[in-house]
Order: sequence, then structure tokens, then C-alpha cells
Amino acid sequence: MDNRPIGIMDSGLGGLSVMRIMRRQMPHESLIFVGDQGHFPYGTKSGDQIRRYALNIGRFLVQQQVKMMVVACNTATAEALPLLQKELPIPVIGVVVPGATAAVSAPRHRRVGVIATNATTANGIYPRTIHQLDPAVKVFPLATQPLVTLVEKRQTGTKRAQRLVDQLLAPLAQDNLDALIMGCTHFPFLKAEFRHFFGPNVLLVDPAVETVKQVQCCVRQDKRLASADQRGRVRLYSTGSAAHLTRGARAWLHDTSLFGHHLVLPD
Ligand code: DGL
Repeated sequence: MDNRPIGIMDSGLGGLSVMRIMRRQMPHESLIFVGDQGHFPYGTKSGDQIRRYALNIGRFLVQQQVKMMVVACNTATAEALPLLQKELPIPVIGVVVPGATAAVSAPRHRRVGVIATNATTANGIYPRTIHQLDPAVKVFPLATQPLVTLVEKRQTGTKRAQRLVDQLLAPLAQDNLDALIMGCTHFPFLKAEFRHFFGPNVLLVDPAVETVKQVQCCVRQDKRLASADQRGRVRLYSTGSAAHLTRGARAWLHDTSLFGHHLVLPD
């Protein structure tokens, strides 16, 4: 039994798409979420910058006595996961291996699209990871960075959102995809727009679902589950606007009691 919280990080609101599944599947666990809005977006930053930001957040979470860290950001996973795993004295889980695993486990997965940030796409981590799992898959990577800002501004469900999705995903329209990995944690909030674009025949893969399974597995295996008679508490921190994080979390986690705090970290 271990009632210490689990730490979660992202560059912004996208990590809430992972957190909402964790809250549903692991209601007894307390969670600390850090949105690095002070450095948003990560997808246009260098690998060195992303590693520095992610490590500072990891160290903060360790100070907060978390029992493990979930990197709820594909870009930070691509650039910083090995460093975090080496430097931090706790288990650290990313979202890319779970996302790739979920895609290749789908019944139809010969042709897989991956939409992600500029940095994740340039890194090549998804094609690499997918081919390690199944070399026969044909992967179609596509950088769709402007969608990240759209979600961070909470403009999902608008005509503008659908227009931007239609425009940016146009290169994938003729690729006959079996599945599309939403390879940025902001993107599951645009699932309705993706579904409208592709119609019913393309599987939309949210890496968060498999990630949360791995988190559950990890805490269970280490005998670190929180006690079943407690309801987990949630603490939210933003290195940018705490009010922005509060609004996003209340809307997307359907909980009006949530409250974001401002966090100052070394630069
Ligand atoms: N949500 C993040 C990801 O999964 C980062 C987006 C960004 O800050 O560019 O990649």
C-alpha cells in the first residue's frame, strides 16, 4: 500500500487527456499534474530545451514525494524519457511505446498514420518504435503542430477546428489508413473532428488508454497501489496561467472543485 501521489506532466492542457482516464480507472490514486504553459509549446523547441524543462518538472515532482511519474506528452517522451529514467529515483513511464503497442495490437494495422508535433515527427520515434514491434507496418507520419495551439486555446468543437483538421490532415486522405495514432496528448480532444474527417473506418488510437494500463500494471507490480478506502486527491500546477489550467481542468475533467496553482521552476 502506498498513498503517495502519481506525478503527471505535459507542456499544457493535453496531459489532461491522460489524467481523465487515470481518474476514471484509478480513482483511489492521488495525482499531481504539472502543465508547463510557461514554456508551451514544446513541439517547436530544441531537444536540449525540452530535456531541461522535463527534468526540472521531474525534480519538482520528486520533491513532492510522488511514487512515479507519467510523461503525458509525446514530445517530452520522444526527447527526454531516457534522461528522466536515468536521473530520477522513481519509475517514469512515457506515452509513445504504449501508443505504438496499441496501434500494432489492433486487428487491422497494416497502414498506420501518426499525427504529432514538429519535434515528435522530426525525432522519428513513432516509426522506429512501431517497426521494432512489427516491421511490416507502413507508417505515415505527419506534423500537425497548429492543432496543439488550437486545443490549448480550447477551440475544439468549433467550425474553425474542423476546418483546420480538414486542411492539415488532407495529405493523409488518400493513404487508405487502417489506424491513426493521435501522437500528441492534446489531440484526443479533437477526436470528433478526426472522426468527421476520416469517417467510421479508420481506428483512432489514443495512446493514453494503453499508458494508463501500464501505470496500473507498474503500481500493482511494485505493490504501490493506494488504499481502496480513499478517494484520490488532485493537485494542479501551471508554470503559466493557473486560471487557464483551472478552466481547462474543470471543463475536461468535469470537476468544478479543481483548482490550479502557479508554479515557478528554474528556467
Ligand atoms: N501535448 C504534447 C505532446 O503530446 C506537447 C504539445 C506541444 O507542446 O507542442 O506532444
